[in-house]
Amino acid sequence: MMEDFIDRLRSAADIVSIISDYVPLKKKGRNFWGCCPFHNEKTPSFSVNPDKGFFYCFGCQAGGNVFNFIMRIENTGFSDAAKILAAKLNIPLPEKEKSEQDRAREKELNKLYQINEMARDFFHSCLVKTSYGKPALAYLASRGINDAVIERFKLGFAPPAWDKLLTSFLARGVDELSLLKAGLIVARSSGDGFYDRFRNRVMFPIADTRSRVVGFGGRVLDNSEPKYLNSPETPVFNKKHVLYGIDLAYKAIRDAGRAIVVEGYMDLISVQTAGFQNAVASLGTAFTPEQARLLLRHAPEIQFAYDSDAAGQNATQRALITAKSLGAAIRIVAIPDGKDPDEYIRKYGADAFRNLVQEAAGFVEYQINRILAATDYTGLEGKLTVISQALPVLASSDNDIEINTYITRLADVLSVDESAIRSEFRKYLRMHKKDKNVKSGNNINIVKISTQPAAATTAAERQIIRLMCEDAAIIPYVMAELRSNDFEAASRREIINSLFNAYNMNKSTAPAVIAATLGEEANQELSQIMLADSRCDNVTRVVDDCLRTIRLARLKYQYEQQRNKVEELERMGDSRCLQELAEMQRIKDEISKLYNA
Ligand code: GTP
Ligand code: MN
Repeated sequence: MMEDFIDRLRSAADIVSIISDYVPLKKKGRNFWGCCPFHNEKTPSFSVNPDKGFFYCFGCQAGGNVFNFIMRIENTGFSDAAKILAAKLNIPLPEKEKSEQDRAREKELNKLYQINEMARDFFHSCLVKTSYGKPALAYLASRGINDAVIERFKLGFAPPAWDKLLTSFLARGVDELSLLKAGLIVARSSGDGFYDRFRNRVMFPIADTRSRVVGFGGRVLDNSEPKYLNSPETPVFNKKHVLYGIDLAYKAIRDAGRAIVVEGYMDLISVQTAGFQNAVASLGTAFTPEQARLLLRHAPEIQFAYDSDAAGQNATQRALITAKSLGAAIRIVAIPDGKDPDEYIRKYGADAFRNLVQEAAGFVEYQINRILAATDYTGLEGKLTVISQALPVLASSDNDIEINTYITRLADVLSVDESAIRSEFRKYLRMHKKDKNVKSGNNINIVKISTQPAAATTAAERQIIRLMCEDAAIIPYVMAELRSNDFEAASRREIINSLFNAYNMNKSTAPAVIAATLGEEANQELSQIMLADSRCDNVTRVVDDCLRTIRLARLKYQYEQQRNKVEELERMGDSRCLQELAEMQRIKDEISKLYNA
């Protein structure tokens, strides 16, 4: 019974799509790659093999099947992992696996989803099928919303009466308590009885990623207040987690590699209708970490297209901090003329909006411009203010070229000596380095190219030695790619030298023969390597992975060396600094090329 259930989960669970719920993955060759969720990294060394159904991180050696993944990422035991997987796959749990409590809770939630869906259909019919809907249809038409859009978003209308929904639902056997729990009716403050929460409003049903209706927003047709009314918090409607439009957007977000976030219901509808199906709305002002995580499950980049008024810009600022602290790549779409995206698209069209998206500023550019715009920097005090506000922004960048560009730009705009800004920047870095390490990943920080944990490189070096010992045909392949001093450990360099030599001289490369040429330490290393369990059925693939890991370690080491050199030259004000900086960038490019190979 339980085994059948686990088997069913195993065969239904496509490891790539399950892991994609947590980690954006990209296909390269037969495997999928992403940034490992189990250790902090900026460049992907986490691989998922769909054929064999397992994952493995070359950075931290986390690995296993889909159950191991869920256990680890959700921090649960096996049976809870199975439950989570079952929920994701819509596979019912075996009855005896559910506790009484689980069952009651599940029943309650399902009932709320069902009532919300009925309400969505009720509002929708009121809009498109009844005479009540006429003014609302006219209102929507005046805002450029046609029938196809009404259907796509299942827009609706709550009639201008106190109990239309209530009486209709009671007649269909839905009890008042459930309607109250769903937030669709409100208890009268005097006496007993209930009335409809939403009256005389255009209704926007809000769904989750699985298209379950979780709540509603309703807009008045005129200028009365409040302009928007939302469902209250219910067991299925948690505002912190809600993103309007996510049900229609999440696939497009994956395809595009980024999400666009707007503020309002109407903005979302306009932006999606203009062809950006990867858009969602954060509803109201505060963009929460929960919303950021939800988006980052699907893609690494978030573009904010908030209103250009002061409130919208303040909201942008807070949203950026939230998103950045979770490691999102960020862009900011500036909407000119004090408009919101909906107004902008209505006035200038979809293509004009597309241009705005294409020109979206990066985080540093946006922040520096904002600081410059907010400060009068004609006097010394203003210049100092700008610089002190700009330093943490510059420090948040992991791109040295970008940092240098903006230091030059600031020096230019402020008419301040560039080397003075540079020296302030170094001071800032020195002062903040310590708590950066502590709060790493949790704060705006400098992201260095992480030096790979030695363990990964060690494992790769050992594995490739073993494969060469087992099959001499691999030796020339490795020789073409690596030199012995690309290897980290001296003992393994010795083994490699011996293997390469033997091969070049047409001698035996059998481990026993090689061992005889080695010193004590290298000998020990070789026995350890040959003792390890080795079975892999795709040797070339493994060799390639090992080569990649070893070369990465080497490049990262060179990068760190080069960075120190550049810093030293910079400190001394040496003009060769720029040349060395270019070399540093070249190494970095090579590193990213290797990641994208
Ligand atoms: P339109 O006037 O219909 O274009 O709406 P808008 O989205 O441009 O409105 P605005 O920029 O004022 O607000 C942005 C978002 O904040 C809205 O879509 C709502 O989600 C939310 N919001 C605005 N006004 C209210 C309100 O009175 N109450 C609540 N709860 N939310 C509101
Ligand atoms: Mn608007």
